[in-house]
Amino acid sequence: MDLFSVKDKAVLITGASRGIGRALAQGFSDAGAIVYGTGSRPESVSWTEGTPIKGVAADLRSETDMKDLINQIGKDHGRLDCLINNGATTLDIPASAIKEADLENVVATNFKGVFRACQAYYKMQRKKGGNIINIASIAGLHGAFLMSVYAGTKGALIQMGNSLAVEWASSGFRVNAICPGFTETDMTASIRKNEDYSEKLKESIPMRRIAKPEEMLGAAIFLASDASSYVTGSTIVVDGGLARH
Ligand SMILES: NC(=O)c1ccc[n+]([C@@H]2O[C@H](COP(=O)([O-])OP(=O)(O)OC[C@H]3O[C@@H](n4cnc5c(N)ncnc54)[C@H](OP(=O)(O)O)[C@@H]3O)[C@@H](O)[C@H]2O)c1
Repeated sequence: MDLFSVKDKAVLITGASRGIGRALAQGFSDAGAIVYGTGSRPESVSWTEGTPIKGVAADLRSETDMKDLINQIGKDHGRLDCLINNGATTLDIPASAIKEADLENVVATNFKGVFRACQAYYKMQRKKGGNIINIASIAGLHGAFLMSVYAGTKGALIQMGNSLAVEWASSGFRVNAICPGFTETDMTASIRKNEDYSEKLKESIPMRRIAKPEEMLGAAIFLASDASSYVTGSTIVVDGGLARH
């Protein structure tokens, strides 16, 4: 038995159009999983055409999109082995300049959307058990400059997952989080464009480099596989040591 196998597991990954989510979708698919990957719009997931990955549009801010998708996967496939809540949006501006609509958008995407997906998954599969992986952030553990609302949603996401881990353990659900550090994706493009700041940031990372999106895959495979069968309510930090500096 391959302890770390995800072969034939049905895995739903949100925010799979680009960045970390796309790397996870590709990695799980390469490892033999049956992958459903979402983006906010149909165009976002057009890259999955011609691949075994099933690309689906589902807006995390919608009250019904994720619920409908999860129920549809249940009908089509009979089960969903793992839900990876990766899709999110950021806001890196001074707290004093944040407008009501921006606040609502980040909370609706990063927190409410994830909660609804977890709830729909549990309701669909409470008799069979399940596995939830929330992609949080080291900003959710320690806060971060200009990221008050984003960091707040990520901290809330970690504690939401820890609470669900306790509440749903008796139904056979495991719930864990991964906290990426600074990773080379669109989300960090504007910060990386500032070369001085980017260099200072790298110096502050003990491993002296920014992560590649693919470097989040190992932790996700561990949490999605039987290798982590007794792990729930845990947070794995994948940040090159940044949070310890
Ligand atoms: N990059 C980092 O340094 C870093 C660090 C710590 C944690 N993280 C976390 O890692 C995860 C992935 O980040 P990333 O850097 O890969 O982000 P990214 O490149 O900005 O991609 C964000 C993904 O989320 C999707 N998304 C955004 N709003 C959505 C909505 N309303 N409905 C559905 N999907 C939506 C996007 O879909 P569309 O393409 O359709 O917009 C896209 O697939 C996030 O949870 C992020 O908070 C990232």
